[in-house]
Amino acid sequence: MPTHHGIEAKVNGDYPNETLRILHQRGSCRHFKDEKIPEEVLELLLGAAVNAPSGGNLQSFNIVKIEDPERREKLMKICGNQRFIGEAPLNLVICLDQRRSMRWAKLDYAPFTGMAQIRSFLMGIQLTGIVGQAICVAADALGLGSCYVGTALANAGEVSEFLELPQGVFPGVLISIGYPAEEISTRKKHRLNTLLHQERHRDLPDEELLAAYKEKHEAAWAPRVEITERRLQRLYETCLRVHGEEFAERSVAHARELGYISPVQRYFGLHYRADSVFTSPNSEFLEIIKGQSWNICGDYKPPMKHE
Ligand SMILES: Cc1cc2nc3c(=O)[nH]c(=O)nc-3n(C[C@H](O)[C@H](O)[C@H](O)COP(=O)(O)O)c2cc1C
Repeated sequence: MPTHHGIEAKVNGDYPNETLRILHQRGSCRHFKDEKIPEEVLELLLGAAVNAPSGGNLQSFNIVKIEDPERREKLMKICGNQRFIGEAPLNLVICLDQRRSMRWAKLDYAPFTGMAQIRSFLMGIQLTGIVGQAICVAADALGLGSCYVGTALANAGEVSEFLELPQGVFPGVLISIGYPAEEISTRKKHRLNTLLHQERHRDLPDEELLAAYKEKHEAAWAPRVEITERRLQRLYETCLRVHGEEFAERSVAHARELGYISPVQRYFGLHYRADSVFTSPNSEFLEIIKGQSWNICGDYKPPMKHE
């Protein structure tokens, strides 16, 4: 079934080429075989990272490779004890690295303010994701499985210490990689029309928004989060701290009316708890960023020392 792009549309799970099949059928892998990745495979995997796009082709990143079993265990502990991190034969931390450019500039007497703008910090973090995704697609193409670990960025201070990251280097993404010891499945996603806007932003009407989330998270086969007093208590406490007593009571009453804890109540009330704004405040994270020598809060005040 050719489209106007000359590409055959997906028909019964057939794709016009292997790249598209991989992109459409990918899924995260969280269970790995105890099998080392051969050097030649590793080279192909990391070659994809080297050739990733980057601002000005400056390649302001580096990759720290962790294979040693004891170090994997330690990394796992830092990153919230997610078992697959210790299990994966290969863990890659992709770091934003302005240090190399800074040193290059210094050696050739070029001006440098790469660590003095929030924009360059954000673009650098974007870059670590772009490099990470090149690695993940290459991993899929090589028969490997992979999973991102967001808790590495969340625990950036401890990860920086563990990897001995110097000033000008910041951990962006961690990816655990290995040969899959589980069937990789494709998770339910939103339909494209929920995500795609024509020409300008359009808020979905409330009913459409709720229907889209219901379709994604509440399929007939999907297990519901049953009400238990402990879960309701946790939901109540999170709501209480963030939005006050009246809202907390309303949230719990809503769950009781539904007869279960709704997916979004689970997401932000029980799992990615909204009250983490108190346990991990911005000020603490900004200190970690500053500790790696970024000045993204105040404005640049010349002259800044060329380290
Ligand atoms: C930035 C980022 C951070 C993530 N962090 C974690 C994590 O810490 N632990 C985990 O098990 N999965 C993590 N994931 C994987 C997501 O849970 C997963 O991509 C999502 O549920 C969709 O499933 P799929 O990748 O199989 O399509 C992360 C993914 C991204 C992109």
